[in-house]
Amino acid sequence: MCSNFLPTAKMMATDQAVHGVPPSLSAKVVGSFAYLTVKDRLPTILTKVVDTIHRNKNKFFEEYGEEGVRAEKAAISLLSKLRNELQTDKAILAMSDGLEDADSWNQYLQRQQSLQGDQDSVSWFKSPWLYVECYMYRKVQEALWLNPPISDFDAFNEGKTQSFFESQQAVMALCTYLEGLNKNMEELSENQLFEQLHKLLQVSLWGNKCDLSISAGQENSQKTSPIDSLASLRPLILVDDSNMVWSTLISAQRPGQSGKTTPGRVDIVLDNAGFELVSDLVLADFLVSSGLAREVRFHGKSIPWFVSDVTASDFQWTIRQTMAANHKWMSKSGVQWQSYVKEGVWSYHDHPFWTLPHEFCDMAADAPDLYATLQGADLVLFKGDLNYRKLTGDRDWEHTVGFDMALRGFGPAPLCSLRTLKANVQVGLQPGQGEKLSTQDPDWMTSGKYAVIQFYSPHAEQ
Ligand code: F6P
Ligand code: MG
Repeated sequence: MCSNFLPTAKMMATDQAVHGVPPSLSAKVVGSFAYLTVKDRLPTILTKVVDTIHRNKNKFFEEYGEEGVRAEKAAISLLSKLRNELQTDKAILAMSDGLEDADSWNQYLQRQQSLQGDQDSVSWFKSPWLYVECYMYRKVQEALWLNPPISDFDAFNEGKTQSFFESQQAVMALCTYLEGLNKNMEELSENQLFEQLHKLLQVSLWGNKCDLSISAGQENSQKTSPIDSLASLRPLILVDDSNMVWSTLISAQRPGQSGKTTPGRVDIVLDNAGFELVSDLVLADFLVSSGLAREVRFHGKSIPWFVSDVTASDFQWTIRQTMAANHKWMSKSGVQWQSYVKEGVWSYHDHPFWTLPHEFCDMAADAPDLYATLQGADLVLFKGDLNYRKLTGDRDWEHTVGFDMALRGFGPAPLCSLRTLKANVQVGLQPGQGEKLSTQDPDWMTSGKYAVIQFYSPHAEQ
């Protein structure tokens, strides 16, 4: 259960602590970022999905004959209906496709109906933004799923692969950097090791700028060497808890056999494919090769999600492409990553909870198996904006509210969010910091220009 009250002094210092949780962000606030997303960005994304399916008509015919063309037409008709429902603020409907998560979606709808009062009030522009945005991507899946033989078609695949290829220069630069680092790893002092961790955390952080949902599917790749830009981007990191990440990794080391220490397990809850995924793999490579982690578990999506999010097939494809690259250090990195996967040092996991609309404070009750899995980690890194929205419940928090309070009891393990700001939610700032940013740059919370490396440990409270 999500807690409304946490008995910490920090929390009691705010009004919100006394009055309970703030409201969810919603398109009902006309002119808000949520409103503009539902009104403009989501219909644009749906139109692109329809275009992509239509453009693949010949491919479907070649693969499946008339059956493929019939499925293409039927899927497009469902998606056009969905776009119309969105634009006319129709009610959110129950899932009827029999997929394994359909019951969870339907229970969530009932929960919203009882929270909002009546059936009709649960609609695109009246309900929480997080809920309706997730619902849209799940309905895209439904439209395809109901239409075999094209059920497994990933309408976002082209954009994801294009974004990988358009970031090639940056990927090569990053793999070359990694090679240099791995070669000299033994000689690094503890301080230098921390510095390198700090750098690669920032590379993975800024990799999050490259998502295709905020750009409504427009090209949004990394063009320059990410390492060279870090110094100039530093002032844009509003909260930097990298030292807590470091100390968590160090204290996770346990005495092992023959006097050597055994490092802990790091879980990375992935966000986008393309350059961001490469930046995460480079970070994971460093964690293992430096001895800061013995195992990395990646968590991705089981269906195409928020345009550019990583699925199992994106994960495998990216490693294969990196291996096959015509660049010495890039292909060497790919070969290394493939062997990490083969040896089980790295593993990929997905769980239906990641593509449900729930806030993460619901996880312990609604996906106890996933919560228990995360409890086995020594550190969980949450990549990206959507994960931050789910960590904080996508609510209208005051900026000075502690991250611990906004998590509302979620804390399976020490965790850290690496996120560029693309939605109107940000907690854990210094008094006055949010106000100052608002005067300097009214779009600071939604432009992706600013970022946070924000840490929380449940152990700190024991
Ligand atoms: O629609 C825009 C948007 O949905 C954000 O508000 C959302 O959180 C983001 O795209 C996806 O960002 P990310 O890939 O970092 O989770
Ligand atoms: Mg994403």
